[in-house]
Amino acid sequence: MANTPVVAVVGSANLDLVVEVSRLPTVGETLLGTAVGRFPGGKGLNQAVGASRSGAQTRFCAVVGRDEAGDILQDSARSAGVVGDLRRTDAAPTGVAHVFSVDGDNSIIVAAGANAELTATDATDAVTGAAVVLAQLEVPVPAVAAALAAGRAAGALTILNAAPAAEAAVALLADVDILIVNETECEELGGIERLHAAGADVIVRTAGADGVDLHRAGQPVLHVPAFRIDPVDTTGAGDAFCGALAATLATGVPLAEALRAASAAGAIVAGQLGATTPALTPEAITTLLTRA
Ligand code: RIB
Repeated sequence: MANTPVVAVVGSANLDLVVEVSRLPTVGETLLGTAVGRFPGGKGLNQAVGASRSGAQTRFCAVVGRDEAGDILQDSARSAGVVGDLRRTDAAPTGVAHVFSVDGDNSIIVAAGANAELTATDATDAVTGAAVVLAQLEVPVPAVAAALAAGRAAGALTILNAAPAAEAAVALLADVDILIVNETECEELGGIERLHAAGADVIVRTAGADGVDLHRAGQPVLHVPAFRIDPVDTTGAGDAFCGALAATLATGVPLAEALRAASAAGAIVAGQLGATTPALTPEAITTLLTRA
């Protein structure tokens, strides 16, 4: 594996507490829901697992607490083949995401906890020698900025998934080759024209099962349709998309083609409970690609 291209993912690791509800509560209201379970999550961890399970040698940089949740997340990354130990901190507990599932769609509230301890030094160290650097915005912006800048300086392909959307993302675009957003994030960041002006290729994931649009300077928009599946739990499907895209691009596959593999990975994760799943394998991606 010595010369295998490395995907470095810098981001969050959360324990997801998933509750099924008929609707979201209003202010001052208590609703009864059904506990679905506790699952490994966090956009960073999901994307690292997605890249690794899609076949890439993957390094993950994240901070968790010295607690049971941290152990669960470390085990989950390791069992997916992700390289490297998550940094442990005494300063805060492991991040927790409260996932409210309504009719298969999710609303999520994240308590950052130890994720807020991720530093620029952690990030810079983690991206050394990587072919692809992938980051999101659930960790401090200076860490994300450092990862992207170090990756760019070393000639890596840099990918930012601007989730959750934050204005700070726009200033980061100078060091981003590929920006991934969903429609809501795209609007929150000022729209496609503004994002495109920074020079990055922009991938917009559309709501529901519509697929993705690739916006590239001087070229018509390329639409890649979604795979038709019966979704079980859409949590982490977008993360699997990002991870698989990074993994596929690391092997030198052109972007338009890599988008199909990434969409297949998203569909596989949406077909299972939890934000990550061992059902995601290079073979499962190939099977879906050849079936379509
Ligand atoms: O993108 C899904 C993820 O967002 C969940 O796993 C949750 O932890 C939040 O970070």
